[in-house]
Amino acid sequence: MSNNKVRVGILGATGMVGQRFVQMLEHHPGFEVTALAASDRSQGKPYAEACTWRLVGDMPAFARAMIVQPPQPPLDCDVVVSSLPSDVARASEEAFARAGYPVISNASSLRMDQDVPLLIPEINSQHLDVLERQKQERGYTTGYVVTNPNCSTIIMALALAPLHAKFGIEAVIATTLQAVSGAGYPGVPSLDVVDNVIPFIGGEEPKMESETRKILGSLGRNSFENAPFAVSAQCHRVNVADGHLVAVRVKLAKRATIEQVREALASYRSVPQELNLHTAPKNPVLVRSEDDRPQPRLDRDAGGGMSVTVGRLFPDSVFDYRFVVLGHNTVRGAAGAAILNAELLQARGLLTANSGPETAAAGKARVR
Ligand SMILES: NC(=O)c1ccc[n+]([C@@H]2O[C@H](COP(=O)([O-])OP(=O)(O)OC[C@H]3O[C@@H](n4cnc5c(N)ncnc54)[C@H](OP(=O)(O)O)[C@@H]3O)[C@@H](O)[C@H]2O)c1
Repeated sequence: MSNNKVRVGILGATGMVGQRFVQMLEHHPGFEVTALAASDRSQGKPYAEACTWRLVGDMPAFARAMIVQPPQPPLDCDVVVSSLPSDVARASEEAFARAGYPVISNASSLRMDQDVPLLIPEINSQHLDVLERQKQERGYTTGYVVTNPNCSTIIMALALAPLHAKFGIEAVIATTLQAVSGAGYPGVPSLDVVDNVIPFIGGEEPKMESETRKILGSLGRNSFENAPFAVSAQCHRVNVADGHLVAVRVKLAKRATIEQVREALASYRSVPQELNLHTAPKNPVLVRSEDDRPQPRLDRDAGGGMSVTVGRLFPDSVFDYRFVVLGHNTVRGAAGAAILNAELLQARGLLTANSGPETAAAGKARVR
């Protein structure tokens, strides 16, 4: 273990997203996991006992004997990443930020606050400028909160961003087909979802409609200014383990040929690629031309689960273009999104091995 690594605490470490964090951080060159936290059901137990591992491959050895702690400060780490349920996330995350920890959250509780970045590093790294105001207004010292969007929203926004940058977007209609792992574990009962489609995912439609406009909008003096287009979303739970698919119709402000649209998507590169961040995919958006792609089983792991795949790109008889975009909901849509956010914060000097409160620094001195 390198002594310069940023020490990470995972809140909600036993859940579907928490397990992805543990898996993705196992061999990370810049981060090491030093604390795990979950509910009182798990607290005080070794991780191997508290957590039933539900991902392919074994539970990483480093985590097995770590004792699960309450998701409250102090934790022995420089930064916390959070995959707590939204009803408990706000209080816990604000407590960590107040105590001096940078907080990088997956939960929805703080996403739409006017002083909180809703970050996708490819799209809106300039929104990090709001952190100074957040610290001042909330009286945080070394702590702050950065969030990543809802899983379906991230996947769709990555395909919309290059189109909005090149041609402007006037309207979006989106229809999702979302995997069961998006509901956490045990999530949707099997007797509800096998041989079935459920046309309701609580809170998902308003999240896609509002978060997309914040992400693709700009940061004003005292608040975020939403992107000036309407988004209409309908969300469905389908019988797929991992991988959310979104069928999108888009109306553009400027005329564009289908070749220009394809080229804008396929050539999209941005800040994480320029900075060569560890978790950044080479191609954030892959474009496939087969009749029957993308498919969850075949395409969710593209780019290590960090690329989204666009297919079925055609002119649309009502709007200008339509396409299908697919991404891995617990990787690009959750844990991988937060880790990429952490890598960007580190590259910007906003996250270091000395981030976090005094108590964490003292803990580090003891450990090293
Ligand atoms: N799954 C996805 O694709 C996805 C994508 C994007 C964002 N998210 C968001 O990420 C968060 C976690 O989702 P998930 O799918 O990982 O859920 P999950 O599998 O249900 O895991 C929830 C985690 O939170 C802990 N927890 C539950 N109640 C708690 C409480 N009262 N106090 C403290 N800890 C508590 C659980 O610990 P125990 O094991 O001890 O109960 C577990 O570690 C949610 O906010 C979700 O909206 C999920």
